[in-house]
Amino acid sequence: MKTIKTLLAASVLGAGLALGSTTGAIAAGKQAQAEDIDFSFEGIFGKFDRAQLQRGFAVYKQVCSACHSMNQMYYRNLGEPGGPELTKEQVNAVAAEYEVTDGPNDDGEMFERPAVPSDKFKSPFSNEKAARSANGGAYPVDLSLITKKREGFHYPWYVSPFIKLVKGNGGPEYVRAVLLGYQDPPAEIAEEANGKSYNPYFASGPWISMAPPLSEGAVEYAEGQPEATVEQMATDVAAFLAWAGEPKMEQRKSMGFMVMLYLALLSVLLYLTKKRLFSRVKH
Ligand code: HEC
Repeated sequence: MKTIKTLLAASVLGAGLALGSTTGAIAAGKQAQAEDIDFSFEGIFGKFDRAQLQRGFAVYKQVCSACHSMNQMYYRNLGEPGGPELTKEQVNAVAAEYEVTDGPNDDGEMFERPAVPSDKFKSPFSNEKAARSANGGAYPVDLSLITKKREGFHYPWYVSPFIKLVKGNGGPEYVRAVLLGYQDPPAEIAEEANGKSYNPYFASGPWISMAPPLSEGAVEYAEGQPEATVEQMATDVAAFLAWAGEPKMEQRKSMGFMVMLYLALLSVLLYLTKKRLFSRVKH
């Protein structure tokens, strides 16, 4: 019992130290700690903010999709419940903007046709070599699962599980931090740049081959939406990519809640049954 208490105390202390020393990681040359954001989709009852997902999709479509594919996504996903929930007409219109290769036709030839909702998101490059050759040898990764693959929060192993339990892996925060994390390199390593940018948030950093992709007003947001500042666009596209990484999150959460409710009711019923059955037994 005593050891458990000591362990608990140590992890709480460790968590405090780790939280307090976020800048320490940069100084040590490690991946920098992403800023924690209170996204609407966090927590047991969290839901995606439809308007934010729509803005985030606009950012992906108008900026990121020039280099990054999203191979796991179909245009129809944009209209499904729990996502950006575009109308049927909007989904059709988005798909129709792209030309995809189909076939072979009766003559055995491949042909181009406008995309339909059941098509996958069109990739900007036809293969990895083409993508690398257009990006100076670096590969713009597929963004479908980026928020699941990457972590924004980096704490010592003995506190990390507890922090993750509360804040998650920080995948969306990672994307946001990379987009906002361009800085002037420290003078002593400035000559290592080699045409790359300095970004201590990048997992394989601190040098990154992606030039800062966002600039003020790069995307026009609809009226009544927040102003398209770089920070706003980065947050919105991070939310959109979080949805893409788990399109059925809302269904999963409401199912989980129903299961808990069911178990709670069942416990009450079982307890009452037990009381009743045993009321006739003499102690
Ligand atoms: C001009 C091409 C280009 C555009 C536009 C672009 N990127 Fe990139 N991106 C790259 C390349 C190339 C890399 C790989 C960098 C490296 O390996 O050094 C990259 C890397 C990344 C990474 C890090 C991936 C990892 O492995 O952790 C993220 C996240 C990312 N991009 C997100 C975005 C988002 C979101 C947008 C849109 C706002 C965007 N990018 C726009 C070319 C681009």
